[in-house]
Amino acid sequence: MNSKTLFTLATLGAVASAFNLPDNLRQIYENHISGDCQNPLSDAFEGGAQYCGDIPNAIFLKGSDGNYDNMDVDCDGANNSGGACANDPTGQGQTSFQDTVQSFGIEDLDANIHPYVVFGNEGDSPSFAPQDFGMEPLSVVAVVCNNQVIYGVWGDTNGFTSTGESSISLAQLCFPDDGLTGDNGHDQKDVLYIGFTGSDAVPGTSANWSAGSAEEFEDSIKDLGDRLVAGLLA
Ligand SMILES: *[C@@H]1O[C@H](CO)[C@@H](O)[C@H](O)[C@H]1NC(C)=O
Ligand SMILES: *[C@@H]1O[C@H](CO)[C@@H](O)[C@H](O)[C@H]1NC(C)=O
Repeated sequence: MNSKTLFTLATLGAVASAFNLPDNLRQIYENHISGDCQNPLSDAFEGGAQYCGDIPNAIFLKGSDGNYDNMDVDCDGANNSGGACANDPTGQGQTSFQDTVQSFGIEDLDANIHPYVVFGNEGDSPSFAPQDFGMEPLSVVAVVCNNQVIYGVWGDTNGFTSTGESSISLAQLCFPDDGLTGDNGHDQKDVLYIGFTGSDAVPGTSANWSAGSAEEFEDSIKDLGDRLVAGLLA
């Protein structure tokens, strides 16, 4: 292979990964990472992040200057010790919106299959209820991680004060090469979680809740996720 071919391949590689993250979302990521949140919707939580209203029609987790949030791994829900969750000491048998999930014909979300994000904190102080700001349960959430965007649903809430948490399937879609498990998350605070306000973000029965894999579920919400992201102002 001569050096011109190598150069061409390198350029194509860069273009291909740029396509993974739409330009407006890349700009949003870059525009909001420095400084502090200007329109905080909550106080800062123990990891330093707070729910932030700086992006219209969205709620995102903003860390201190230069940071978003990390990605802890959640295994709650059906089969909470299955697969890479076998070593998770804290898994709970159910997720917060199990009643609604059951209306879609499954017993509960399965962390190994449903890419879901944990959003909202019910504990003492500080606490935060995304519903108070117009986010609806089981709505689509965009997660910017590892230079790409992965879609999940808002599937669980935290009973205490930690933030930056997603199901094992979402964590593995974000960081497929990092060996993430129920007991081993992603520590760097470079993950941007964006929830969308309003009922347009709720996939309802258009998502394949009975999907057999995370990829299959992801496919069923990708068009809606792409539309919601396209509607964000950079
Ligand atoms: C639980 O997860 C494991 C590993 O992913 C899988 O082999 C098993 O079939 C699952 N069980 C149920 C009841 O879904
Ligand atoms: C949802 O996933 C299941 C399991 O793979 C599949 O059998 C079914 O056809 C899918 N439903 C839709 C609407 O794609």
